Amino acid sequence: MKLLNIVSWIGCRYTLSLISSVAGTATVPANNTTCSSDAIPFPSLFGAEILSLSASPFTNFSTSLPQADQHFALNITGLDFCNVSVQYTHPGWNDRINVQLWLPLSSSQWNERFMGTGGAAYASELGVLSLPYAVSLGYSAVATDGGHPSVYFDPSSWALSSPGNVNWFLLQDFAAVALDDAATIGSPPRHSYWNGCSEGGRQGLMMAQRYPTQYDGIIAAAPAINWEKVLVAGYWPQLVMNQLGVYPSECEFEAITAAAIAACDGLDGVEDGIIAAPGLCQFDPYTLVGQPFNHAEAAAVALAAWTGSRSVSGEFQWYGLNQDAPLNVLAPTSCILPGRPCPSDFAPFYQLFNTWLTYFVAKNPVFNVTNVTYRDYDTLFRQSTNQYASILGTADADLTDFRASGAKLIAWHALADPLLPANGTIEYYERVLERDPRATDYFRFFAAPGGGHCGGGVGYYPHSGLQALVDWVESGIAPETLLGRTLPDDEGKIREAPLCPYPLVAAYQGGDVDVAGSFWCQESFLR
Ligand SMILES: *[C@@H]1O[C@H](CO)[C@@H](O)[C@H](O)[C@H]1NC(C)=O
Ligand SMILES: *[C@@H]1O[C@H](CO)[C@@H](O)[C@H](O)[C@H]1NC(C)=O
Ligand SMILES: *[C@@H]1O[C@H](CO)[C@@H](O)[C@H](O)[C@H]1NC(C)=O
Ligand SMILES: *[C@@H]1O[C@H](CO)[C@@H](O)[C@H](O)[C@H]1NC(C)=O
Ligand SMILES: *[C@@H]1O[C@H](CO)[C@@H](O)[C@H](O)[C@H]1NC(C)=O
Ligand SMILES: *[C@@H]1O[C@H](CO)[C@@H](O)[C@H](O)[C@H]1NC(C)=O
Ligand SMILES: *[C@@H]1O[C@H](CO)[C@@H](O)[C@H](O)[C@H]1NC(C)=O
Ligand SMILES: *[C@@H]1O[C@H](CO)[C@@H](O)[C@H](O)[C@H]1NC(C)=O
Repeated sequence: MKLLNIVSWIGCRYTLSLISSVAGTATVPANNTTCSSDAIPFPSLFGAEILSLSASPFTNFSTSLPQADQHFALNITGLDFCNVSVQYTHPGWNDRINVQLWLPLSSSQWNERFMGTGGAAYASELGVLSLPYAVSLGYSAVATDGGHPSVYFDPSSWALSSPGNVNWFLLQDFAAVALDDAATIGSPPRHSYWNGCSEGGRQGLMMAQRYPTQYDGIIAAAPAINWEKVLVAGYWPQLVMNQLGVYPSECEFEAITAAAIAACDGLDGVEDGIIAAPGLCQFDPYTLVGQPFNHAEAAAVALAAWTGSRSVSGEFQWYGLNQDAPLNVLAPTSCILPGRPCPSDFAPFYQLFNTWLTYFVAKNPVFNVTNVTYRDYDTLFRQSTNQYASILGTADADLTDFRASGAKLIAWHALADPLLPANGTIEYYERVLERDPRATDYFRFFAAPGGGHCGGGVGYYPHSGLQALVDWVESGIAPETLLGRTLPDDEGKIREAPLCPYPLVAAYQGGDVDVAGSFWCQESFLR
């Protein structure tokens, strides 16, 4: 049973004003009376104590979003909304969590839907990255700070209660609990959706796995699942460089990536700078050694990034990147002094992995990641897996309760993601399908060739992902494909191709390679 809560209460007011508009008012004016702390009751949240609630109207809000809908830039102007802020604690946990609900200020601006918005890296994200996009589409929307500052790459301010001791309560809030709370605080009268990428994608899958009745539809993009492995494995190319004592220049890596693309681009039937068939790509970077600017060490680091993390005895630990993914994210070297690793402040993703090892695995603020050996790394990998899989792994393939709730899940992952290997998401989807061969009734995964990590890259992103999800939830129309669309190139050109439900691939059939109709979804790239 759902508790009466803020949005449904306001939704009721909206309904009233909508009726009054039908009864004679031409347009429903922004109503400031219902947007006040006096008019909005405290939400009821089991296990929590509400500390404060405030609400005030904000008119004519403007912002520039770098990655609206998880990939494209968008300027938003003239947004009117009611800014509801709730602060609460879980008694005994010594936490203090801030939630913001942004509600359209008039019924005419509201589509009667609700959206939970996701975070990035270590931020549960009470920033303004996702709320404005949701509200601009007419959704009411919620975001939570998870009880800690919304800082992306540096968890040092909250990770430890004291040196040696992880703040387990704040970690549980970040991993899962605060997400459930935010959904309950915002739970809507009609349909509710989750839309998030990276950490936001992991959060979406956490909702599906652990809180399967909260959202009717979930988009989980490039999800940071298998967190306990991925956040160690992301350090792997750095480790290889540290052990070699060589930090190849960025242009060497660019040359290797370009050569790999040249070798493997055509395997998918279209030469367009995108490796859509990474599994067929056998390019060996050592063939470039001896050519100007290319040294064996650069080849070794590239191969390490592509192969993925391995133990001293050669056992698989995690997947590598596909060969068209830029290498400068996991092997950042543009900022180095000769023979020295990149300082973290210049390489934010390096900092993400470095801080995971320092604060959560070693639990020691003065831990020196730089002199970790291959042997130390194996131990850290095991420790991370052993301690954090159940907290942050978010890789439970048993979606029985999600299925029973009737909700729908769309996941996508760009194949040229330079940060989180797409194969981790593919492996999860395959496990779900193995358990439940009919999982496509409620869960579909789409690989997006050539795209980057929630933005960037020359490849395709789902242009219509959210609408496809709404159609699936509200009209029962399951997505057979998503429309893939590239970001505009330097000349403003946009290309389109279908994104196919895995394991199908978009095979070129002839005609204009920039047009979706020139591709069919089929089992292989063979024509
Ligand atoms: C706001 O809406 C409420 C409920 O519909 C209505 O009673 C009230 O008169 C409205 N106030 C203003 C200032 O429009
Ligand atoms: C609502 O309040 C804002 C800020 O207090 C004000 O700028 C705006 O004019 C008000 N709108 C209406 C319709 O009263
Ligand atoms: C809204 O803000 C924009 C700047 O972002 C400004 O140009 C415009 O005049 C404002 N409109 C109103 C009605 O205040
Ligand atoms: C957003 O506005 C800025 C400043 O006016 C402009 O440079 C940029 O191109 C705009 N971005 C988009 C996606 O329209
Ligand atoms: C919304 O309200 C909170 C709490 O008062 C405030 O910190 C935040 O800046 C507000 N957001 C906007 C966009 O005004
Ligand atoms: C990664 O996924 C691709 C499909 O996109 C597959 O062809 C390839 O074999 C996988 N690689 C590994 C190392 O599992
Ligand atoms: C960390 O270890 C590296 C490699 O052993 C060393 O060069 C560096 O000085 C150490 N840093 C600190 C802060 O001790
Ligand atoms: C790094 O090197 C320092 C000094 O040699 C040593 O005290 C420390 O234990 C080393 N750290 C690791 C993780 O090996």
